[in-house]
Amino acid sequence: MNKLEKANAYIQKNKEKATNRPSFHFTPEIGWMNDPNGFAFYKGEYHLFYQYYPYDVVWNDMHWGHATTHDFVSWNYLPVALANDKIYDANGCFSGSAIEKDGKLYLMYTGHIDPNMGFDRDESQIIQHQCIAFSEDGVHFEKYQNNPVIGEQALPEEYQICDFRDPKVLEVNGVYYCVLAARNKQRRGEIIMFQSNNLIDWVFHSSIYQTNPEENILLECPDLFRIDNKDVLVFSVMPCEPEYKEEVIQNTIYVIGEMDYEDGSFKPENKGVLDYGYAFYAPQSTEGKNGERLLIGWMHRWHQTTSQKDYGFIGMMSLPRILTMKDGTLVQQPSIDRTKYFKPAINLEDIQLNEGEVMDLPAEELGYLRLHAASLHTTSFTVELNKSETKVTRIEVDMENNRILFVSDYGSQESITITDLSHGSKESLLLEIFIDLHSIELFINSGEKVLSFTAYDQDKGNNISILAQGKTEFKQVFMESVNVHPIST
Ligand code: FRU
Repeated sequence: MNKLEKANAYIQKNKEKATNRPSFHFTPEIGWMNDPNGFAFYKGEYHLFYQYYPYDVVWNDMHWGHATTHDFVSWNYLPVALANDKIYDANGCFSGSAIEKDGKLYLMYTGHIDPNMGFDRDESQIIQHQCIAFSEDGVHFEKYQNNPVIGEQALPEEYQICDFRDPKVLEVNGVYYCVLAARNKQRRGEIIMFQSNNLIDWVFHSSIYQTNPEENILLECPDLFRIDNKDVLVFSVMPCEPEYKEEVIQNTIYVIGEMDYEDGSFKPENKGVLDYGYAFYAPQSTEGKNGERLLIGWMHRWHQTTSQKDYGFIGMMSLPRILTMKDGTLVQQPSIDRTKYFKPAINLEDIQLNEGEVMDLPAEELGYLRLHAASLHTTSFTVELNKSETKVTRIEVDMENNRILFVSDYGSQESITITDLSHGSKESLLLEIFIDLHSIELFINSGEKVLSFTAYDQDKGNNISILAQGKTEFKQVFMESVNVHPIST
């Protein structure tokens, strides 16, 4: 049995052992999952690949898992697409992307070589270079015989081959480009671009984004796309050296600007945070079937507590988000068809609560909660989720100071503050909350700000209530519970 067959046989034999999988979020059948890869709409369905280690709930030896979907709730698992079975990807098929060319699906990924498997990092022994695999049927992939297609010779001297990864391919006016994360000789992160006419022969084009040495950061998983006549560059941030571990927040950032593909320059205009939680990383986008821009992220974070041996799996994907532009910032709205999988549980209008009053909502099974608060008549309130006798997750809304505090007794007991709630908040504040078994995603004011949270605790409560700290008025309190449990197993 080769490595790919071994992985697939292992999954078939062991997948029933995975338990406690969420209701409407994508998870691996068994084992560890990180970044979304190769996100693409191909031959009538969405393909999602992912960084995958089927054998345990820890990061190791990266394969590419693979699944397809029409609606992002119901998934069809396909055989593992790539295993690290060549000399040039011996220690992992790292993150990358997909693109269709002449009816074939091309994958471009990073072949990772590290004899120490990243556990005892010795940079001088690490090589990261870019490889291609393709498929006629979107299921079976063949690696290109002359991999790597971008190797050490093609990488300009000012970059280090040990941190050169995560190619995201795009086509602009018949020319292929790919953006990549690189570490420069000052040991800091940059995003660089390569160019090709055929996806096989690549030349260095330019550096499109540089970090200040004082920021002490490395960038990962770049993405570049155009919406509403603007170019958007997305990347994930991590500390560039262990000594900056504490001072750098691992974040996912978007930069809106103008990309000139001719001269290879990117002019940044506005920058923002894609997600205010600590559980959203390495997102990847694709053009949806109706021309919309869809983004999906790994709902997890490096170094988050991952002690879920019991469940047999770890790692989830966020709900897909449709991206649009509003007043020079990025707006993200969840994109799943709730009517198909959710059923109404509550719909109350014009609710007034006095200071100290508590409104208990039915402890329905998970789902969706929408609160539309009238700003002028509301000072502050708290939404309590997953309430048990002793533990709770609280969303504290301070309308007077335009601020939300998210605190949880679950998971790594996070406390996150979001300030400057914008525009809409003048007259009303809209909170949309998706609650699944291990996650909460909060969309504020129709996706102007988003926060993702994950916690795998077994002892979570079910109760939900709203507590009025001051005068509180809701135009609407609307709730849905999960109707069907559609995740394929
Ligand atoms: C981001 C990342 C990528 C890399 C992959 C390895 O989470 O570190 O840069 O390709 O994970 O699994």
